[in-house]
Amino acid sequence: MLSGRRVTLIIGGGIAAFKALELIRRLRERGAAVIPVLTRAGAEFVTPLSVSALAGERVFQELFDLNDESEMGHIELSRAADLVVVAPATADLLAKMAQGLANDLASTLLLATDKRALVAPAMNLRMWQHPATRRNVETLRGDGVLFVGPVEGDMACGEYGPGRMAEPPEIVAAVEAALAAGPLAGRHVIVTSGPTHEPIDPVRYIANRSSGAQGTAIARALAALGARVSFITGPAAVAPPEGVAVTRVETAAQMLEAVRAALPADAAIFAAAVADWRVKQVAAGKIKKTRSGDLPEIALAENPDILASVAQMGTGRPALVVGFAAETDDVVENARAKRARKGCDWILANDVSPQSGIMGGAENAVTLITGTGEEGWPRMSKEAVAERLAARIARHLEEQA
Ligand code: C5P
Repeated sequence: MLSGRRVTLIIGGGIAAFKALELIRRLRERGAAVIPVLTRAGAEFVTPLSVSALAGERVFQELFDLNDESEMGHIELSRAADLVVVAPATADLLAKMAQGLANDLASTLLLATDKRALVAPAMNLRMWQHPATRRNVETLRGDGVLFVGPVEGDMACGEYGPGRMAEPPEIVAAVEAALAAGPLAGRHVIVTSGPTHEPIDPVRYIANRSSGAQGTAIARALAALGARVSFITGPAAVAPPEGVAVTRVETAAQMLEAVRAALPADAAIFAAAVADWRVKQVAAGKIKKTRSGDLPEIALAENPDILASVAQMGTGRPALVVGFAAETDDVVENARAKRARKGCDWILANDVSPQSGIMGGAENAVTLITGTGEEGWPRMSKEAVAERLAARIARHLEEQA
């Protein structure tokens, strides 16, 4: 049910706009209040009168409308709901969202909102398959925008393929999933993941074997409990999860900068395998072999410790800072010392010796070390470790509140 929840519904200009009327009815049946916003193009397909009659609310249409502004300013309007739904989301609206344009009421709301957006694309299949739309969809997914559909089927233009808007019951289900009040609803969590690449010259770099699988699973599990997740990833082998805001970085320095930009947060989980060293002087051109066979000298400098700097930041420190200790010997003992040295609250110790098969593998065996005790978790999939950790984080934040 959606009782007490408010949904801003942006109706774009496409033939599927007629389905938005049924969507309003179904959302209201489930108990949601619907604040309708009709784009100029949307008003070519459905009338403001039918939209407002079904929503039981007035329709917002123009950015520069003095009456609207005095009643509810556009910034206020952008924050008034628990979720912003765009249905139908036209190619044009998706492009505006991906570019951050704000040249009408709908695009301005989407740029100004502090809530999640769920889009139901609807367009001709060639428009959906166009590289420009592919790029925009990719960008929006990376920004944490949720998608429902499009589905395959007959199109109003006579063609067949992907591009039909999802049916209203499916959109309602996606709204319910997006608004499912998990224990981490309203919480912001930062997750770092993957390896970092530290350049030697324009073509070579220092890297490690981290796949990003554990960090990705943690971000997904936190989002599934309702958290708003800022996922900061190095060049990982696995794709980032849906529904989280992704920042892609290469180096440790960039990762630190991205973490700082994502603060404040309720919790921060540092699952990235950050390179400890970078090359002091990155060569501007490719380093050449010499005829004499002299080897290049590569001097290293220490990278900033992202975990330690956040754990020890004082004001603005997340309430819970969690690190990983990937060790090959004396795993728990080293991790215990690491927790104290870095100043984090929890550390997950894991054995990354080659014979454990953990680094780059599908399973993990961790020991959770907190300020009050240690727990050895049985070997399980990285997804299961992530779910257990996410549940522990939710419980801890709840207890602290
Ligand atoms: O010191 P070590 O690399 O073993 O510490 C591992 C933990 O510290 C991990 O949580 C890792 O994400 C974090 N770390 C970091 N910045 C670094 C090195 C490690 O955030 N430069």
